[in-house]
Amino acid sequence: MKITVVGAGNVGATCADVLAYREVANEIVLVDIKEGLAEGKALDIWQKAPIDLYDSRTIGSTNDYAKSANSDVVVITSGLPRKPGMSRDDLIGTNATIVKSVTENVVKHSPNAIIIVVSNPLDVMTYQAHITSKLPRTRIMGMAGILDTARYRAFLAEALNVSPKDIQAMILGGHGDTMVPLPRYTTVSGIPVTELIDKDKLNAIVERTKVGGGELVKLMGTSAWYAPGSAAAQMVESIVKDQHRILPVCIQLDGEYGIKNCYLGVPVVLGKNGVEKVIELDLNSDEKALLETSRKHVKEVMDVLDKLGK
Ligand code: NAI
Ligand code: 2OP
Repeated sequence: MKITVVGAGNVGATCADVLAYREVANEIVLVDIKEGLAEGKALDIWQKAPIDLYDSRTIGSTNDYAKSANSDVVVITSGLPRKPGMSRDDLIGTNATIVKSVTENVVKHSPNAIIIVVSNPLDVMTYQAHITSKLPRTRIMGMAGILDTARYRAFLAEALNVSPKDIQAMILGGHGDTMVPLPRYTTVSGIPVTELIDKDKLNAIVERTKVGGGELVKLMGTSAWYAPGSAAAQMVESIVKDQHRILPVCIQLDGEYGIKNCYLGVPVVLGKNGVEKVIELDLNSDEKALLETSRKHVKEVMDVLDKLGK
């Protein structure tokens, strides 16, 4: 198996490191436009192999996609991250140009790859990569829900003083402040979370989750990378090992949840063919209203992209 990660910055290098450490594929290629960066990070990860005991090979390339040829999965992390005071949507112009040119190269050299987009604004960059690649929607998807859900699960584990391993949860919608955490679908080892935490505390966690990315940007002056890199790697692993994990993934909806032609996070089954099934939850009227607000927001940003004519 061969995986390419485009963008050897914070998220891309972390993703490649996790993929190598977990031996998800025998060949992992890092590509970046900045001279020497991908080669350097790939070499550093390879030199960690004798310490951490893995044998996945990591190879770097400065914008030479021939080295990435015939990848099975490609993760696109190239693009600007947020600075304090910026929203993810502020990145659209610059990142759409980057994602478009990267996608063209990816499809040219790896026509059979499944593509996972990470660059922000996530839902609309997934749209950009989809229209550029012309791939079936099952093979082009965005990573955000795993990260957002992980933040929610981590906050809950801390509040309940239990292991994060035991928190199961689902978040729908766009990757932004309109995301839709679902307390009704949150359990702690099968116990509904509402039986373990009072409503106000749970609401506070839901609200903190929605701005979880911004909390880190304020602290660090740039956006997060450990959890995002691992989240993207988890999607790759489910595909490469045909695990059929149920994960929240951004995909073009085609009538599911009563929504068409919009890119939103929903639970899907991820296997060797990419998105093998979209799972439709039976939402109540409040949850439907929140998802509709999220849809409207993502659609507005998609319209901005359309007007930019990328
Ligand atoms: P970074 O600045 O550390 O790395 C980005 C890398 O992309 C740089 O090394 C840069 O040289 C490279 N790059 C730029 N243009 C390129 C091109 N045309 N071809 C190849 N490489 C190119 O940024 P970081 O922190 O890794 O974030 C990357 C992107 O991921 C940002 O857009 C950020 O907002 C997004 N992100 C998305 C998350 C999500 O949940 N979907 C979570 C965290 C970050
Ligand atoms: C995050 O949520 C910035 O989208 C990135 O951390």
